[in-house]
Amino acid sequence: MSDKATLEFEGKKYEFPVIKGTEDELAIDIKTLRGISGIVTIDPGYKNTGSCESAITFLDGEKGILRYRGYSIEELAEKADFLEVAYLLIFGELPNKEQLEAFHLDIKNESHVDEEMKKILDGFPKSAHPMGVLSSLTSALVAFNPGSVDVASNDAMYHSIVRILAKFPVLVAWAMRKKMGLPLDYGDDSLGYVENIHKMMFKKPNQEYKRNKVIIDALDKLLILHADHEQNCSTSTVRIVGSSHAGLFASLSAGISALWGPLHGGANQAVLEMLEAIEADGGDTKKYMAKAKDKDDPFRLMGFGHRVYKNFDPRAKIIKVAADEVLSDLGIDDPILNIAKGLEKEALEDDYFVKRKLYPNVDFYSGIIYRALGIPTDMFTVMFALGRLPGWIAQWREMRLRKEPIGRPRQIYIGANLRPFVEVDKR
Ligand code: ACO
Repeated sequence: MSDKATLEFEGKKYEFPVIKGTEDELAIDIKTLRGISGIVTIDPGYKNTGSCESAITFLDGEKGILRYRGYSIEELAEKADFLEVAYLLIFGELPNKEQLEAFHLDIKNESHVDEEMKKILDGFPKSAHPMGVLSSLTSALVAFNPGSVDVASNDAMYHSIVRILAKFPVLVAWAMRKKMGLPLDYGDDSLGYVENIHKMMFKKPNQEYKRNKVIIDALDKLLILHADHEQNCSTSTVRIVGSSHAGLFASLSAGISALWGPLHGGANQAVLEMLEAIEADGGDTKKYMAKAKDKDDPFRLMGFGHRVYKNFDPRAKIIKVAADEVLSDLGIDDPILNIAKGLEKEALEDDYFVKRKLYPNVDFYSGIIYRALGIPTDMFTVMFALGRLPGWIAQWREMRLRKEPIGRPRQIYIGANLRPFVEVDKR
């Protein structure tokens, strides 16, 4: 393999190094391009642009491979718990027992949220979308933890990390409890990380919280499957905001906003709403398949297609099996699951979807599990954010430790050329 690529333009040749990742991915390093030639590249949607080198997550969209720090998602989903995966993503290695306990203890010690934060939450109407609430509250946390902005030392960085891992689930639970009219409680440090999250979300004021292993295991698995996905829209947002040294919490708040959109994390809510609409409309999946294929109809089959996976999404495979298991373990017969399976079958046999390599993505079945766990539909994307938190943190930390420069793309200007100002009465 040549380790150089040549660009020829207007009779001049420019050489650039070719770099190779540990999984043999190749990239032309054009860092010097503009300096030596005056030219930039243009790549809307960044379909061909590597924004960084990263040692966190590897995915191969053609082969349907997803690995965190070298471990396959299938193995992690089966054998690890969410906190172990968080540690792995952030610090690079699976923790031993002592490291995991110490990490959990540090998180527990930060699991309070300033009471004043409740006043901020109070200011939101009950109808507010919890993603907007969560993004605002995460940003507001900066004011109560100003030390989280300047992370000049490793110690300061570690403290910011355990602080947000501790406080974010409280904000998630509060965002949901406010909507449900439940008192804003704190967690129970005697419980595991995920079980505590579940208790914070669902504990009723006058009832004892009852542990349900099926629910906790399903939640754990869903959070692991969402924990990182390399340079997607929200993660790139976290990295680029962080590249200005804005601080971890502010960067995360921006990432939450990016995740909210229906083309990204918001798809899980959109999928369930779509399945409910199809059911309410008589369950005619063929009608909706036709709508999805009609270029004059803005309808898309939500939960289908992925920017990177062009074969299958390995997370969707795991989630599909989990959805079946959870529903049967909980004794739920949900007609929505049958509609989802019907749509999937039809799409996988349909020329339009086959040609465009459109397969179910992680969000196609996750909403069905969330629904079975009693999580309200508009909280689905919040659950995604909760799962993605360690990934965002890991990517932000990597970006800071590698001392990456501030993210500042170029553009090709296509507006008006210089023209004289015209006074208002002459326009
Ligand atoms: N339903 C119908 N047609 C689709 C769908 C879909 N879900 N997705 C893509 N297509 C079609 C497009 O219309 C386009 O057709 P054309 O070539 O005839 O113009 C072709 O497939 C390629 O689609 P793009 O939008 O160019 O693909 P891109 O990689 O930019 O987008 C995306 C990927 C945003 C995920 C897209 O597939 C989509 O909108 N899916 C539905 C939303 C969704 O499920 N998002 C969650 C993604 S996973 C995540 O963020 C966790």
